[in-house]
Amino acid sequence: MNEMPENVVPAEVNNVDGSLLKKSGGKIDFSDTKLKIGDIPNMHKFLTGFDRYNAKLPFIIENFFSEEELALLMQPINKGLENKPVKQYHGEVSEEGVFDRYRPKLSTYMSRLILEFDIPEPIQEKLDKVAHPIHKDAMTLTHWNYLDYDLKYSEGKVDPELRPHIDADENLVTLNYCLDANIDWPVYVDGVAYHLKPNDMLVFSAVNQIHWRPKRNFKEGEFVKIISFDWCPPTSYRWQNQPNPIDPDIFPEYRWVYSRHIGSHPLMAKYYQQYLAEGERDGVVDKPDQNKNA
Ligand SMILES: [Fe+2]
Repeated sequence: MNEMPENVVPAEVNNVDGSLLKKSGGKIDFSDTKLKIGDIPNMHKFLTGFDRYNAKLPFIIENFFSEEELALLMQPINKGLENKPVKQYHGEVSEEGVFDRYRPKLSTYMSRLILEFDIPEPIQEKLDKVAHPIHKDAMTLTHWNYLDYDLKYSEGKVDPELRPHIDADENLVTLNYCLDANIDWPVYVDGVAYHLKPNDMLVFSAVNQIHWRPKRNFKEGEFVKIISFDWCPPTSYRWQNQPNPIDPDIFPEYRWVYSRHIGSHPLMAKYYQQYLAEGERDGVVDKPDQNKNA
């Protein structure tokens, strides 16, 4: 039973790419829906607990990659970064021409750059050796991205941010690698801050543990570059050739139900309050365009 009032957390908080709001011109409203979270077919499992885990999460592995491994990993990333970025608004790609997954995507509304790349085999082997023993069930490395958070990607209009959320995908195990950073912008997992230095790897469960980074007014030149790797069950829609069951464009009503469900979860409410309170404590001021998803 949910004892928290609804709407403690904005319903769109998990609508990270904002596409649901964009599609509806901000007017979408399924508040009369009779659907419940359990009615969504092929729904991801989330906040399921740790019965199937062999390790207490999160934990940090320091000095994760050797110099040789890092050089190998950076080859496809550096190659991809040479490509002209496409601008991404609310999950949509604005650029004319063919969508190319190897082009960096510039999310101006989140002040970040994201890049997909082909993972070198020895790197995947090393990562798999860490991830697989953590969970009792079969898992497959399903997605991985390079991300760069920097004020320049929004031309200073919005601060990079990562609000409290669980991943809207069945990411049972996530490895979050700190590639480079010139500031301390910790990752919070279940209310606790984890401070990563370059070459540190944070291991946690992005579908079972609410995570975020604290509100921060970035200064020009400040950056955090990470690479994240996610393991999903082989039954994931991604491996079954199915659409994402809560894709905001394909199933907006399901997405709405999901966002409401997560947003009103007691844990989400608790951590969202912590996020806001610490932002206030630290004197962080929202920029005029912040949170507009525009
Ligand atoms: Fe996440």
